[in-house]
Amino acid sequence: MAQEKAKDPALWSGRFSEPVSELVKRFTASVDFDRRLAEFDIDGSFAHARMLNACGILGTDDLAAIEKGLGQVREEIRAGSFEWSLDAEDVHLNIEKRLTALVGDAGKRLHTARSRNDQVATDVRLYLRASIDDIVDLIKSTQNALLDLADNHAATIMPGFTHMQVAQPVSYAHHLMAYFEMLARDAQRMTDCRKRVNRLPLGAAALAGTSFPIDRQMVAKELGFDGVCENSLDAVSDRDFAIEFCAASALLMVHLSRFCEELIIWMNPRFAFVDLADRFCTGSSIMPQKKNPDVPELIRGKTGRVNGHLVALLTLMKGQPLAYNKDNQEDKEPLFDTVDTLTASLRVFADMVGGIKVNVDAMRKAALEGYATATDLADYLVKKGLPFREAHEAVAQAVKFADGRGCDLSALKLAELQQFSPLVDKDVFAALTLEGSLKSRHHIGGTAPSRVKAAIAKARKAVS
Ligand code: ARG
Repeated sequence: MAQEKAKDPALWSGRFSEPVSELVKRFTASVDFDRRLAEFDIDGSFAHARMLNACGILGTDDLAAIEKGLGQVREEIRAGSFEWSLDAEDVHLNIEKRLTALVGDAGKRLHTARSRNDQVATDVRLYLRASIDDIVDLIKSTQNALLDLADNHAATIMPGFTHMQVAQPVSYAHHLMAYFEMLARDAQRMTDCRKRVNRLPLGAAALAGTSFPIDRQMVAKELGFDGVCENSLDAVSDRDFAIEFCAASALLMVHLSRFCEELIIWMNPRFAFVDLADRFCTGSSIMPQKKNPDVPELIRGKTGRVNGHLVALLTLMKGQPLAYNKDNQEDKEPLFDTVDTLTASLRVFADMVGGIKVNVDAMRKAALEGYATATDLADYLVKKGLPFREAHEAVAQAVKFADGRGCDLSALKLAELQQFSPLVDKDVFAALTLEGSLKSRHHIGGTAPSRVKAAIAKARKAVS
């Protein structure tokens, strides 16, 4: 970064009798990270200048000069030839300074009826709005990847778990669709958050509004905002929209992390339910046999980082009196890193789902162990008239008996099963099969393959 000479004073330094120390300059500058907002800052300045002109606050020649200059600044930034300067502190002052160097006095008029306080709040909202739109698209791609995998596995049977113990058989596609639902809510949360992000702070100026006859609605319309922030103090000070986004992001990462945790466990040869394509795994520098699930582990790890950003922003805000405080400059790095981490995680996650190889036999074998159809036997007895609590007890005894034999319930003879209830008949074996268990759960939200197929078809429509 090019350092300027001390003879080049800060744009706000008029009332100071000595320049800020080098240490403080470095400590307070944000340009190293907030230059990411440059495109949005320029968009905001275009809209502000046009409004000033339309309201008779800025001459037409000045507007023309500003528009030309801002266009050039944008090109320089895009081309990478823009000289960012720490002396100019942040993205806003860097751009304004360069504009003034290019077009003279007109550049100095741009900041009329505006403060960096409403400017930065506007930039962050524009940045976040664009980021949310990208993220919602990425969530949809991820959902589609889950659907592609689910398509082939409506009738693939695995043990469903509670307390990480075998509970009841479920369709693997049904299991995948649980994550589809989580992601659908994540997308809804993002879209809902976007409504509150998409309000214009400009016009609030430093905190109290401005004495110029501005037209905030015009600026809002030009920048694609749904409306304006209704209170100037609130407009420049609160960052609840960013906190809300980080909360939605943390939840989304938690959902990805849960899936990753399962992948990691299921890839272990003791489970061997799935294998992950080599391109998502790495080896060990010492143990030649190793194939490690680095990608899911890293997504799981990055979840902690995003959760941390949420807590950082909440803590940043909790002690701030109205209105703007410099504390708010600290909102950017956690926010930017949340966007980057989420975006990178979603991209690799969607890709990784396409690299999951399913071991149908291992899943089935595991579902046949652990008495996964015990509840089906209890339900069978209830359907024959036994109260559920008694049926539960009878089946518990049957499980104990089968366990002693080291076999599954379905491997017991009819006479053996009848010891536990005289209501047991030949038709019991249909209820004890994995297929029978799944098929019987055909209500909305159930795991019957026919129902799961319908859920997949419905989901496809929802994300197409
Ligand atoms: N860089 C500052 C931020 O990110 C811009 C606003 C500065 N305003 C001020 N009054 N110092 O919040």
